[in-house]
Amino acid sequence: MRRIFQLLFWFTLAHAWGKQVDIDRPEGKRSYWLYEPKDYQPTKSYPLQVWLHGLTGSHYNAFLFSVTTGAYDSGYLLAVGEGTTSNSSFVEKSVFPLTKLGWNAGECCGVFVDDVGYVKQMVSDVKSKWNVDRSRVFLSGFSNGAMLTERIACETGDTIFSAYASCAGSVMVSPGGNEGLKTCDASFGTSTVSYVHFHGLNDTTVPWGGYEPSKIPSALDNYRGWVQRLGCTEERQTDPSDGVSVKRGDRSAELVRVNDAGHLWWEPNLPKFLFGKFPGVDVTRYVLTFFGNTPNNMNAL
Ligand SMILES: *[C@@H]1O[C@H](CO)[C@@H](O)[C@H](O)[C@H]1NC(C)=O
Ligand SMILES: *[C@@H]1O[C@H](CO)[C@@H](O)[C@H](O)[C@H]1NC(C)=O
Repeated sequence: MRRIFQLLFWFTLAHAWGKQVDIDRPEGKRSYWLYEPKDYQPTKSYPLQVWLHGLTGSHYNAFLFSVTTGAYDSGYLLAVGEGTTSNSSFVEKSVFPLTKLGWNAGECCGVFVDDVGYVKQMVSDVKSKWNVDRSRVFLSGFSNGAMLTERIACETGDTIFSAYASCAGSVMVSPGGNEGLKTCDASFGTSTVSYVHFHGLNDTTVPWGGYEPSKIPSALDNYRGWVQRLGCTEERQTDPSDGVSVKRGDRSAELVRVNDAGHLWWEPNLPKFLFGKFPGVDVTRYVLTFFGNTPNNMNAL
């Protein structure tokens, strides 16, 4: 019953002002959805937010989590990706999965196409059709989409994106677990970006403390990996949760621990009867503020 309401909710919210754009990939035709900000003028350049859904999600999730309205209000172009069919046991075991779509983030989640290449092509395509400020391109994602966000952070550093926002995910590059964090160190090199991570203390899907059989490192180990890669040192407590933020100059690595919260991209407009009590961290708005405080990336291609 819950699922049926959820479906209805998504489809009612869909089809607003997004434009579906097709791109050709080795695996076949793929799409992304582009949302222009309020009063978009082609003669003016805009920052770009890219957003990636979780496993069994779809581009509709961007409506559900108000990512579309957040970007619209804040003057960001928004490009929302969509994954391909996953054969993971998680999808197979779901009684009524909303979709079977997921991303190849490395050791997760039953998808074997080149999704790093897909996201790169999506960004180049947006740059060729809309007026993007190349020094202000940001990547964000939820769950499996956060895992792809982290993989792309490891592999492309500051060549495209200025900052990365990961909610309820982790670095999952091969061979996974804490060894995967070392693979990330090696490919990231000396890039300069900012990074923010949100994680529910009571997440049972991608647990805060990690989960060895699925090669998921703990949220703290994953975060410490980014602190080291970014060379951040100066530490401060963040509001409103028990998170921590470390800085190096004007770059930061931030961890927002969300207490008494499970596996979700938290946003105050989500219906309580489906998603439970709002834990007080508005991820959609937090991410936009974080991106807004990130200095321009002069290394971007
Ligand atoms: C999923 O697909 C991959 C690649 O085609 C294959 O290697 C793997 O065995 C499949 N897994 C399952 C559970 O079917
Ligand atoms: C969340 O986890 C913490 C630490 O394990 C525990 O103390 C707390 O009671 C949990 N909260 C809920 C709502 O389950």
